[in-house]
Amino acid sequence: MSTPQSLAPLASAGGTPVRAEFLPLALPWIGEREKQLVLETLDSGWITTGRHAQELGRRVAAMSGAKHGLAVNSATGALHLSLVALGLGRGDEVITSTYTFAACVNVIEHVGATPVVVDIEADTLNLDPDAVAAAITPRTRALLTVDYGGHPADYGRLLPLARNHGLPIVEDAAHALGARWGERPVGSYAAITAFSFYATKNLTTGEGGAAVTDDDALAERLAILSLHGMNRDAWKRYTAAGSWYYEVTMPGYKYNLSDVLAAIGIGQLERFDEFQRLRHALVARYHERLGAIPEIGLPVTREGIGHAWHLYPIALDLERLTLDRARFIQELRAENIGTSVHFIPIHRHPHFRDSLRLDAASFPVAERAYERAVTLPLFPRMSARDVDDVCDAVGKVVAHFRR
Ligand SMILES: Cc1ncc(COP(=O)(O)O)c(C=O)c1O
Repeated sequence: MSTPQSLAPLASAGGTPVRAEFLPLALPWIGEREKQLVLETLDSGWITTGRHAQELGRRVAAMSGAKHGLAVNSATGALHLSLVALGLGRGDEVITSTYTFAACVNVIEHVGATPVVVDIEADTLNLDPDAVAAAITPRTRALLTVDYGGHPADYGRLLPLARNHGLPIVEDAAHALGARWGERPVGSYAAITAFSFYATKNLTTGEGGAAVTDDDALAERLAILSLHGMNRDAWKRYTAAGSWYYEVTMPGYKYNLSDVLAAIGIGQLERFDEFQRLRHALVARYHERLGAIPEIGLPVTREGIGHAWHLYPIALDLERLTLDRARFIQELRAENIGTSVHFIPIHRHPHFRDSLRLDAASFPVAERAYERAVTLPLFPRMSARDVDDVCDAVGKVVAHFRR
């Protein structure tokens, strides 16, 4: 009788890996259309910010239910511009999650404001509205919310909380393009929403991002701030329709997106619905296969949420296993499965821990989540067979380290 795969020797101990070839955490999917649009742009004589960047901004706004959209060179840039456009600075406090990427806190520091970092909810790993409420002081000026993994935060509670305190929400939807909170698309309810088009994101331009808003004045400020503070449409100054004259009306930044990259985004948008459909199908397969392994906790989707499924993070039930998360990742790596951890909490990074005097004991939910978190591969170009390989590898490692 042959050995069941889960009991086969671990690759780390000289056994055959579940896969012959390494499966990375995420791969972009650049099609012929994107390549064609990039080549056309390169030949067009206009390779910096222009009509493609404008169109990408417009289309991202339209799909996310916002009036205005500005394509920029990263979500980080979009978040930074948002805080500047809202007039935040020294003496102001901005509340955000500890379970996020460093960019969220860096941009608060960049405007001179004070980041106030709070704990998360155990199921979605999004900002805990109770922790946010407890952190509000007379100096609080904004909430920087995060839609972890593509699951919108609890806006049913965060929006009224923000409204009651007169606080704008800047929504970090780096993971959440295409997600819905109830009937409302992500991008349609916060003061400003930032999306990322980084290489691994649901829609990519290699590097890129967008800020969307319904507010005319904020949209104007974002656009001006994104290009040196030059008045609007200064980017046209080398076109026949443009003028050489411009004025700098505020100290701006250089966060504009080139048309070469925007062209990739426009090609990607044509396939975005298909990308999302594929992500959902892969997730359904993961849920079904991993749901049969009691040592593995699956990501949850709350009632009424349209998940963007940027990430597929599992939680190891360490009480039922004899290995820790680092070893689990190492074993999966030996089986040729790439993984990552989202996120190393903000309070664990030396800079934030020391400068903001953050103590891990103040973040029990994030601490527990972090110790157990492993993000599995998820990208539209993955096959069902790839998902099965990941699940076989997870099952194999669990079988070897079951208590
Ligand atoms: C939650 C979150 N916010 C912001 C960013 C920054 O995105 P970008 O690389 O487009 O600046 C990332 C990047 O991975 C992220 O995960």
